[in-house]
Amino acid sequence: MDKVEIAVKTGDPLTSTAEGLVMGVWDDGRMAQDFRKRLDGVLQGEVSRILDNGEFKGASNDVLFLPTMGKLPVRYVILAGLGSSEKTTPELIRRLSGTVARAARSRNISSLISTLVANDLGESEDVSEAIVEGTLLSLYRFDQYKSADKEKKEKGKKTGAITRDFGSLHLFSSRDSEKKVRKGIEWARAIVRGTYLARDLGNHPANVATPSMIAQTASAECEKRGIRFVSYDREKLEEMGLGALVGVAKGSMEPARLIQLEYRPSKAANTKPVLLVGKTLTFDSGGISLKPAEKMETMKGDMSGGAAVLGTMMAIADLGIPLWVVGLMPATENMPSGTANKPGDVLRAFNGKTIEVINTDAEGRLILADALSWGVKKFDPALVIDLATLTGAVTVALGAHAIGVLGNNQKRMEEVLEIGNRVGERGWQLPLFEEYFEQIKSPIADIQNVGGRGGGTITAAAFLSHFVDEKPWVHLDIAGTAWVESDEPYKPKGNVGIGIRLLTHYFGMLAEDKGLRKHEKREIRKK
Ligand code: BES
Ligand code: MN
Ligand code: ZN
Repeated sequence: MDKVEIAVKTGDPLTSTAEGLVMGVWDDGRMAQDFRKRLDGVLQGEVSRILDNGEFKGASNDVLFLPTMGKLPVRYVILAGLGSSEKTTPELIRRLSGTVARAARSRNISSLISTLVANDLGESEDVSEAIVEGTLLSLYRFDQYKSADKEKKEKGKKTGAITRDFGSLHLFSSRDSEKKVRKGIEWARAIVRGTYLARDLGNHPANVATPSMIAQTASAECEKRGIRFVSYDREKLEEMGLGALVGVAKGSMEPARLIQLEYRPSKAANTKPVLLVGKTLTFDSGGISLKPAEKMETMKGDMSGGAAVLGTMMAIADLGIPLWVVGLMPATENMPSGTANKPGDVLRAFNGKTIEVINTDAEGRLILADALSWGVKKFDPALVIDLATLTGAVTVALGAHAIGVLGNNQKRMEEVLEIGNRVGERGWQLPLFEEYFEQIKSPIADIQNVGGRGGGTITAAAFLSHFVDEKPWVHLDIAGTAWVESDEPYKPKGNVGIGIRLLTHYFGMLAEDKGLRKHEKREIRKK
């Protein structure tokens, strides 16, 4: 994706050169500026004919390729439906740009000019970011295990024909918005880079994306960016007292890891870090409480929380966001074996709490319990955020269109929800009432790892709250949003790389957050 050339153009889009010129059309037939009139002038009224005949209605995500027959420098004018002007959001532009890019690629068109910024869709920064993200994220492919495709590609190179990689995207902008458009592009680039990596990690089979492979990948990406990298192995974890993580790992032959990433720019706004923890379960068989065979292969994606941590750290470092962030990725498989945890076993987490393992398939909360409590103790964070493909129940509650948001700090949760609305990774809050805590009481230990029938997402969060030492904390259950079963405009079937756009923007906001700074100062003075 770094090979795709992306540039801002401030001239006249109708005299610019590319294969396709993308023009937004509202569902009432309007186009930005005087584009419709001018296109009609050059193309002998064809655009108006198409719109008046209802061949193209401008409905959201509609796309029509209109050949220009040599009458314009571009080979096609691509009409792109914006839908109703009252309802358009950057997220719809992201989807539309994805649809356009994929349609272009399927026609072997590899250079586009987008004029969508010109439609006054809101902040040009958000819109240009959405155009670039929609385009690049939609073009993502995971085909490295397809030998046939590899051959085709090589052949294509030899003959100079067939499958071309996407080449360039130029964004048309007014001179006034140019700076904002550039900033949007820069953010999109960084976010997409992190998201591509996260998708790759999630799409690789679990025999490749092992805890050690993920540690190696993280180490390489950290080295490029001056992020401090530490990886703790099993022996060390035992010594550190991370009994819950070690407990889950002991059923597996793959060595477990706790991966620690620390980004501390010299201009960091905060005097205490933000702690970001992601469930990095590289394969979840369920353990002795074995899962049914159907769809078990999707459990290679149970590391999506950790992948989002890595992708976000990459993005904020690339953008130079002045915020001190520590990322933790507890990484292991969950397997059944003679050495595995058994239902009824009791584990002791880092903070000393004992956990009765009623169901070995509720393993995510076990590894998070250790990573959270160890991270809180070691780094004394101002804010804790965790992401995890934690419960099937969140899909029952919210389906595939919202992240489950829970926590102990209403202000921080609302900030996350608001940013999610803005960037198109929406969340929905679920309650964490006292009563839910009753469900995870154990007859023999401090707590148990499952809470019975009702409110599975909530009791999982209630469990985690025992390990954040009452620090401000936001939990994101991404089990419903981490992968898609079929292609969506900018989400090809497979791992979505969810959470990186949300967190990168949230950290951008926190870096400017006076509240976070003031709060810190007050605490320092107290000491
Ligand atoms: N990794 C799963 C959650 C999951 C399920 C993610 C489906 C994506 C799709 C998690 O470890 C798990 O197995 N949770 C159990 C908890 C239960 C045993 C209390 C679940 O949701 O069934
Ligand atoms: Mn599980
Ligand atoms: Zn799991």
